[in-house]
Amino acid sequence: MKRRWRGQQDRSVDLSTWLYGRRLPSPIMSASGTSGHGAELAAFVDLSQIGAVVVKSLAHFPNDGNPAPRVGVISTGMINSVGLPGPGVRRWIDEYLPDLIRLGANVVVSVWGRTRADYITAVEQLVPVASHLLAVEVNVSCPNTEKGGEMFGHDPKETKEIVRAVSQTCSLPIGVKLSPNTDRYIKVAEAALEVGASTLVASNTYLGQVLREGSRKPVLGTKSGGGVSGIGVLPLSLRIVKELNKAFPGCDIVGVGGVYSASDALAYLFEGASAIQVGTATFIDPRSLHKISEELKKTIKEQGVTNLKDLLSIKREFLSF
Ligand SMILES: Cc1cc2nc3c(=O)[nH]c(=O)nc-3n(C[C@H](O)[C@H](O)[C@H](O)COP(=O)(O)O)c2cc1C
Repeated sequence: MKRRWRGQQDRSVDLSTWLYGRRLPSPIMSASGTSGHGAELAAFVDLSQIGAVVVKSLAHFPNDGNPAPRVGVISTGMINSVGLPGPGVRRWIDEYLPDLIRLGANVVVSVWGRTRADYITAVEQLVPVASHLLAVEVNVSCPNTEKGGEMFGHDPKETKEIVRAVSQTCSLPIGVKLSPNTDRYIKVAEAALEVGASTLVASNTYLGQVLREGSRKPVLGTKSGGGVSGIGVLPLSLRIVKELNKAFPGCDIVGVGGVYSASDALAYLFEGASAIQVGTATFIDPRSLHKISEELKKTIKEQGVTNLKDLLSIKREFLSF
């Protein structure tokens, strides 16, 4: 059983934001795959006070993931080829969901699959526990094994079919986690929004390769490379958020990539995001979600307001980080 975090929090500031049709206590969420399958961060942050816990992407089947080494540290963050290991939805419901419910977390379940049918089965398995969940985040950054291995998320038509199928299978709000490794992300987002997605999550990791220093050997066991994340991707994902906000004004967007501080989080909020996910920063410091939230509250107070909405409505330049 996971222990509830009991550290200090400033309760005088309102960080709340709206997402997935609900008022969340904070715009700061965890990013899928970077803090385990359930309540692993509970010792470092009050999970009931963050926006949501986004759990590691789950398939309807258990999966082993890729060969080690699965992660490498780079100067701008990290590269990983973890490869979506997981217990499968059914075991996750039995072993991980109860702690998240007990700790009062808003839970977003990320789902993945190799075929459209895989996504449908994963979501069907979630239906009995849907009342305990905030939303489904559809991870379309997976190779479509039925169609020659192209990523679902690089093809607007395939993304549309998956999101349509998910929305026909459950009534939960749907977020789509976009791949940044295509110039078609606007078309992909448009396709997802047309068939029932309410929220765009931008973005997943950037394809990359890292060699061991002075060697021809790749750092990762997969040899073909992996996904780059961390502070270095912040400007890249920030631009994607800006473009999405321009293309779909009023649509809920979650900014993700390289958020290490309140200043980074604010950059996404200024470019139109309603919430932010924090991933790689939690590997550096597992208290990152708490620290960023408290830093954000401090900034709000320094500007003489008491809530995030009023902070974002201030037009003058005000930051002094
Ligand atoms: C080790 C690791 C595992 C990840 N696993 C997943 C995953 O299972 N599903 C997913 O949608 N994204 C996954 N991601 C991507 C993150 O959720 C996030 O989109 C990306 O890391 C960028 O954010 P960051 O720079 O804050 O880490 C993973 C990232 C890392 C570093």
